[in-house]
Amino acid sequence: MDFFATAAKGTEGALRDELRELRFRGVRADRGGVHFNGGLEEGFRACIELRTAVRVLMLLSEFDAHNGEALYEGVRAVAWSPFLSPKHTLAVRAACRSSQLTHTQFIAQKTKDAVVDQLREKFGARPSVNLDDPDVMLFVHLVRDKASLYLDLAGEPLHRRGYRTHIGDAPLKETLAASLLRLGGWDRQVPLVDPMCGSGTFAIEAVMWARKIAPGLARDRFGFERWASHGEEEAKKAADRRAEARAKILPEGPRIAGFDTDPEAIETARGNARRAGLSIRFDRRSIRELRPESDAGMIITNPPYGERLTGSRELYGDLGAALRRMHNHTAAILAGTPAIAHAIPLRPEKSLIVWNGPIECRLLRYSIP
Ligand SMILES: C[S@@+](CC[C@H](N)C(=O)[O-])C[C@H]1O[C@@H](n2cnc3c(N)ncnc32)[C@H](O)[C@@H]1O
Repeated sequence: MDFFATAAKGTEGALRDELRELRFRGVRADRGGVHFNGGLEEGFRACIELRTAVRVLMLLSEFDAHNGEALYEGVRAVAWSPFLSPKHTLAVRAACRSSQLTHTQFIAQKTKDAVVDQLREKFGARPSVNLDDPDVMLFVHLVRDKASLYLDLAGEPLHRRGYRTHIGDAPLKETLAASLLRLGGWDRQVPLVDPMCGSGTFAIEAVMWARKIAPGLARDRFGFERWASHGEEEAKKAADRRAEARAKILPEGPRIAGFDTDPEAIETARGNARRAGLSIRFDRRSIRELRPESDAGMIITNPPYGERLTGSRELYGDLGAALRRMHNHTAAILAGTPAIAHAIPLRPEKSLIVWNGPIECRLLRYSIP
């Protein structure tokens, strides 16, 4: 089975490294995600264990789709009854580039028609469409007239870990925070602090990673658990994968803390940590008060920027001064504006482009002497 795990733009390298570390096979980074392969159980395991992936897709078929008819025939050639019965609901998402078919809505519609026509013929009734919470989600990607048809294993995107019901201003997606911890070079050993922690996403993801708490363990049900063919045998396999993940959890991890000047943010972060079942120190404190609390450590943060939060020059100056005090620490700053790098009186040893949704950002890495 060929799988494709999707990732936020710019974070594919983090997902590739994570897949390799977790011993998945055939790992190959691509635009927007990473390919890997294995049995269906490996797909289950990916949903449970991966922190940096947004979705896990399973390749069902690849075929020529230079026009609507070819697309329809290619989709109809797949046996759909293992996944869908007339009682199930489905949704189709389409993307295309460099192809003769250019309308994603048309591509999605044709694909859906081919699926439901096959099932109507077989059962005399057809599944219905549900765009919000489908039992089965299909992705069709057209590149140079070749269609790749994927089935989504995860269901809800994996950044919805479930611990964050209250969100602060401009929170980072959990999957992006996990990727930035990796790309920022954290070794999972030294103490870590987010001095502008907002809803606490970096700190929570850091504890989960350091203690090997698989993010998928908090989910009741994945997309694959809603397929028509998901019976007792598959349920047992999924339960085994969950048990294996649970067995890896470490009782303790390094010291991790989050600070913020906003009392509401601190309350939110504490509530999120509680819901994640973690005890993390979140204190109300300004970046001006940041001081080293250990011989070595890591700072990771995303300062306010952009439309939703207006970061001032003064604040960036305070951040720069604070970093200078953190001798023998490393820092990873997610900067949504060049003004942040300009205010930091250190030379970044690395600057990576990553996308926070539609915003192009830089992840700046510093080694502070
Ligand atoms: C972009 S948000 C961080 C979002 C966070 N990464 C999350 O996932 O929720 C920036 C945070 O910086 C905080 N902040 C602003 N000025 C600060 C200061 N002087 N010291 C500490 N925190 C500050 C804001 O209250 C806000 O929560």
